[in-house]
Amino acid sequence: MQRIEELGQRAKGEKYVCYTVEDARKYDDDIAGLVPGYPSMLEAIVDQIAQFPAQPAVLDLGSGTGNLARLILNRSPRRVRLVDSSPAMCMRAQAKLLRLASQVEIQCLDLHEADLREGIVVSTLTLHECLPERRQLLLRRLAHRLVPGGALIVGDYYQPSEWNRRAYAELIRKHAARCGIAPHEIELEIREHLADPTLPRIGDDFAILAPTPLVPPRILFESSGIVLWMAQRECPGHVGLSP
Ligand SMILES: C[S@@+](CC[C@H](N)C(=O)[O-])C[C@H]1O[C@@H](n2cnc3c(N)ncnc32)[C@H](O)[C@@H]1O
Repeated sequence: MQRIEELGQRAKGEKYVCYTVEDARKYDDDIAGLVPGYPSMLEAIVDQIAQFPAQPAVLDLGSGTGNLARLILNRSPRRVRLVDSSPAMCMRAQAKLLRLASQVEIQCLDLHEADLREGIVVSTLTLHECLPERRQLLLRRLAHRLVPGGALIVGDYYQPSEWNRRAYAELIRKHAARCGIAPHEIELEIREHLADPTLPRIGDDFAILAPTPLVPPRILFESSGIVLWMAQRECPGHVGLSP
């Protein structure tokens, strides 16, 4: 099992280090155990995307091994552009999406350098890895580049609320027990992760988006240390939201 801090990829100077070939190989086995809300979060995103039939393309920032892209494409005939800075994760995604190759474009680059103009932009478990000032800039750029009528959907680690903190710790303990990890080993990790002051606060992200063209974001889902939220951009001339 990968350690929590390895999954968090905290590096000195930059907040993430590149995911290695070994990380990419183990990622899918580890992630569902360490983030028990992961499959439901991906399903919830696919359900939300289905509410935007007029938007044919999706941009996935920090796309990892392509789990979300595969779910989206299995549900509807869209195009998905995957952006990830780790060559190992991109190669893994490419192998998994071979059958759907005509609908995907994989860009192995830093998300701060990506073309952000798209109708639907999603990002899961990635933005917390950005340094705070880069993250703020990115959120502002995302809000201004989003195509009118489109949506920005983010599922990520945030500083957990008290109930979420307890539920998350409990789930991690169960996962550790299944993996044969000693309780004292996992307790330290849980404490460090849950008290991690570098995790973003949801209120700060929403405050950054408040003066942008996006409609105020709403939380769709909160589970095991992660929050899923969505913000839409209205179509000019439309009264109310689309859809
Ligand atoms: C925890 S994984 C999440 C992967 C995927 N979104 C998922 O939910 O399974 C974080 C991913 O973000 C990528 N990543 C982190 N920082 C990045 C950056 N600045 N630019 C592009 N990709 C980045 C990592 O390479 C990794 O694949």
